[in-house]
Amino acid sequence: MEDSKTKEGAAVDAELAKAIMARRFSPSLIGTEAWEGYIFSDMEIRIKESTDLYGAVLWPSAIVLCHFLETNRDEYNLTDKNVIELGAGTGLVTIVSSLLGAKVTSTDLPDVLGNLQYNVMRNTKDRCKYIPLSLNGLAPEYLSDLVKVHQPSRALRSADQMVLDVPRSFMKTRGNRAFAVVTPTLWNVLPLSVWFANSLSIFKICLKTHLFILAFG
Ligand SMILES: C[S@@+](CC[C@H](N)C(=O)[O-])C[C@H]1O[C@@H](n2cnc3c(N)ncnc32)[C@H](O)[C@@H]1O
Repeated sequence: MEDSKTKEGAAVDAELAKAIMARRFSPSLIGTEAWEGYIFSDMEIRIKESTDLYGAVLWPSAIVLCHFLETNRDEYNLTDKNVIELGAGTGLVTIVSSLLGAKVTSTDLPDVLGNLQYNVMRNTKDRCKYIPLSLNGLAPEYLSDLVKVHQPSRALRSADQMVLDVPRSFMKTRGNRAFAVVTPTLWNVLPLSVWFANSLSIFKICLKTHLFILAFG
C-alpha cells in the first residue's frame, strides 16, 4: 500500500517536472552571451544570463514558482496586486508576475541590476513604465519619478525600451534646464553600451570611453 503511494507520488512529480521543462526553449540568438528561453503566459520570454555573477544566473526554483503562479492563476489571481520581489536575479519571476497582471517592484544588488533591468524591460513590453534613473535604482524616488520610458504606438524593441520621454518645455531657458528635460535628453543620445552597462563602475567606464571618442575620436 505504502509502496504504491510512493510510486504514485513519484509519477506525479515526474509529470510535473516534464510540464515545467516543456516551458524551456533555446533562443536562436547569435552571440557570446548566455540566453535562456521560457514560455509563460503564451509569451516567449528570453532571459540573458551573466555567468560571471552569482545573481545573474537563473535558478531552477524561479521556473518552478513561475509554473505554479501560471497554473494556479485563478486561485492566486495577481491582477493589479502590488508585488515586491527581493533578490530577483535575472528577473523571470518578476516578468511572469507582471505578465499575469501584477505591479511588480523588482530588487537585487547593484551589480546585478543592469542585467535584471534589461531582461525585465525586454520581456514586459509596455507594462514596464518606469526605469530607474541614474542606472539601476541608485537614484532616490523623488528623482526617478521624474523620468518615464517613451511609449511608441508600435511594438517596442529592447533598445527602444531604454528611450526616455522628453517632456515638452515651454520656457526656452529655465524650462529646458529642468531636471525632467535635461536628463532624458542627455540619456537618449548615449550609445547602447552605456545604456546596458551592468554596474555603476562599468557605466562610468563606458561613458568615459564614449565622451573620449566624441572629443578626440
Ligand atoms: C539564489 S539567487 C536567486 C535569484 C532569482 N530569484 C532566481 O530564482 O533566479 C539570490 C539573489 O538574491 C540577491 N541578493 C542577495 N543579497 C541581496 C540583498 N541584500 N538585497 C537584494 N538582493 C540580494 C542575489 O544577488 C541573487 O540575485
